[in-house]
Amino acid sequence: MPRGNAVVTGYGFYAPSRVVTNHDLEKMVDTSDEWITSRTGIKERRFAAQGENTSTMATRAAKIALERARLRPQDVDLIIVGTCSPDYLFPATACLVQDALGAEHAGAFDVEAACTSFVSAIAVANGMILAGSARNAVVIGAECLSRLLDFKDRNTCVLFGDGAGAVVLEASNASVGVESAVLHADGSKGELLYVKAGGSRVPATNETVAQGQHFIRMQGGEVFKLAVKSMADAAEEALAEAGVGLDEIDLMVPHQANVRIIDAVAKRLHFPMEKVIVNIQRYGNTSAASIPIALAEAAETGKLKKGDRVLLVAFGGGFTWGAAVMEWWGVPIPDRREKTIVERAARTVDDLLDRVRLPSP
Ligand code: UT7
Repeated sequence: MPRGNAVVTGYGFYAPSRVVTNHDLEKMVDTSDEWITSRTGIKERRFAAQGENTSTMATRAAKIALERARLRPQDVDLIIVGTCSPDYLFPATACLVQDALGAEHAGAFDVEAACTSFVSAIAVANGMILAGSARNAVVIGAECLSRLLDFKDRNTCVLFGDGAGAVVLEASNASVGVESAVLHADGSKGELLYVKAGGSRVPATNETVAQGQHFIRMQGGEVFKLAVKSMADAAEEALAEAGVGLDEIDLMVPHQANVRIIDAVAKRLHFPMEKVIVNIQRYGNTSAASIPIALAEAAETGKLKKGDRVLLVAFGGGFTWGAAVMEWWGVPIPDRREKTIVERAARTVDDLLDRVRLPSP
């Protein structure tokens, strides 16, 4: 397989049409628009409609990204979905997306690192493309968190939203592409943000359901403190690994968990907020989907342009955290289709020659 740098050639996002405002939530739980806005920056979020779920949203985002990349589903080598709200425990949501896209030659699996899932999936896809084991990958972050929310728990139900974002990464020498990706974890703090029941440790029973153990629970204050330091440290590490200075970063796209966390990370890094993408006011915390949604929206609105250097930084349950530096390309590789045709023709000629070659005496 041809090797090259992993370059973004397409991007897309999907946000369900149902908008749920803070005022809507005031009618469901003891909260206020004032509290939610001042503590988190969130004004509204999207909730999936009946019949929509993580794989359907992931598929919609992936289709847009593939169209932009001018890559046909049957030419896709790899599909990775980052999610902590998969359709099923198994099969992987990525397999459902593979089927829905008709990506008949693609391998597919999920990456689960909560809100760090998209950055983790980028790290994996980048590694496989650099190693030559995939020519391209559709990397998706998708969540349907509204199905995991307890609308009696005001600590969590006001924070999260649904949606999906995707990028197509391809081997190319047209750009430096992904320049670094660093990942970290601290499993000892897993229970500060988790869904307790439904897995093999606490299987689902009538009792676990009655106690709401299948919903997201979080000790927000503890998570907040760790998020700021970890995200800033990961950003610095990814920059050092890429050999890039913070002054060379055109845009930072952080995980959208809380505008106060984003502010604090930017302050800690001495990075100007004008160069930071913030869209949490419209989508809430969409976990693995927040970075790819923000990336795609920034590219669509012209805030992110070809040749810009982007810093992605994430933090989430696990605990997990990580960052990546990449040069944004965002357009199809110009000569890919021609190259594919030439490669196919060469393979056909090889096959024909093999068939007519006489066995050695
Ligand atoms: O995406 C993965 C990573 N997740 C995060 O990074 C989330 C990190 N944490 C946070 O963003 C913040 O900690 C929260 C937004 C979750 C909470 O903000 P906070 O400033 O840390 O508030 P708190 O948890 O200290 O709660 C303060 C008060 C409490 O009342 P008392 O005990 O002081 O009387 C809560 O009961 O706010 C109360 N409260 C609410 N009040 C109105 C908590 N949720 C609500 C609510 N509406 N929805």
